[in-house]
Amino acid sequence: MSATSHRPDGGASKDGDRQTIALLHPGRMGTTLGAQLVAQGHRVLWWSTGRSAATRERAEQAGFAEIRSPEALGEVSVALSIAEPSAAADIAQAVAASPFRGVYVDANAGRPDRIRETAALLRRRGSTLVDGCVIGNPQPADPGPRLYLAGPRSAVDLVTRAFGAGPVGVTTVSTEVGAAKALKSAYASHQKTAYVLALLSLVYAERHGVREALLDASRAAPPTLPEVGADVGRAASVVARAWRWAPELVETADELQESGVPGDLASAAGRILARWDAAKDQFDADWERVLTTVLHRSAAFCEKE
Ligand SMILES: NC(=O)c1ccc[n+]([C@@H]2O[C@H](COP(=O)([O-])OP(=O)(O)OC[C@H]3O[C@@H](n4cnc5c(N)ncnc54)[C@H](OP(=O)(O)O)[C@@H]3O)[C@@H](O)[C@H]2O)c1
Repeated sequence: MSATSHRPDGGASKDGDRQTIALLHPGRMGTTLGAQLVAQGHRVLWWSTGRSAATRERAEQAGFAEIRSPEALGEVSVALSIAEPSAAADIAQAVAASPFRGVYVDANAGRPDRIRETAALLRRRGSTLVDGCVIGNPQPADPGPRLYLAGPRSAVDLVTRAFGAGPVGVTTVSTEVGAAKALKSAYASHQKTAYVLALLSLVYAERHGVREALLDASRAAPPTLPEVGADVGRAASVVARAWRWAPELVETADELQESGVPGDLASAAGRILARWDAAKDQFDADWERVLTTVLHRSAAFCEKE
């Protein structure tokens, strides 16, 4: 077995940069991350208890070494949790109950407050938690998935060095645990909702025989989040026109609904827009004004609805 150090502060291992890393578990995304660690010369362990034949096949093909007991986690300097978000707490509990004393990376989606609780649990057991999230597809294409990290600098640096260069990029977002989870939530709330909206629009357009025309019309439009996020003029123009878009969207929601397509998202968007009327026609608002309007007026929506 490797003589890798267990220092939770991310100190150098006795074997130089070669570490023993546990991957919990080798799903599609986990295997992509683990394969890069193997390519960097690390020994990657996977814990087989309770896992399926599909996970075993991925692990064996990627060259991960099987462990059958949590006792083996005592040899590990970094444990990477990348499974189902709903399983993240149980995985952390199991690791906390094991002899593991290294850097624990939770790269699952989740809530910032919950990951801070997990960090406290692991700290009591002598481990250091790095908060993480993964954005992108598991295929190691270009661009490949990106691992975002937040937490104590030395532990984040240890994990970043372990991944080195490869199709999986690593970015530090903050020294504060919870920041990576917040990033994932912010990204997912836009991306996943946008996919649902896109599908609903396509279904509605199909029903009215205009699906191809909708595609043509949409091709000219840039992706929404980068467009709005990088251009304050664009963001301001959305808020400035909210008073006009609100009734339009509420009416559209009714029209969708009557066409047999769920109108709930469009209806909610219309009702949120209706609350941004304080910025009516303020096309030259700066970022502070735009964000303040959206935050404060939307907060009222959260309280009252
Ligand atoms: N795939 C993507 O496109 C993508 C993109 C960004 C982020 N992610 C994130 O990556 C994580 C994993 O996604 P994935 O695509 O790799 O999923 P996946 O292919 O379905 O693999 C999930 C892995 O977690 C294990 N697992 C499932 N339920 C478990 C439980 N209750 N306890 C312990 N282990 C459990 C599975 O083992 P068994 O099946 O053997 O039980 C499997 O090895 C998720 O948090 C996801 O949000 C994925």
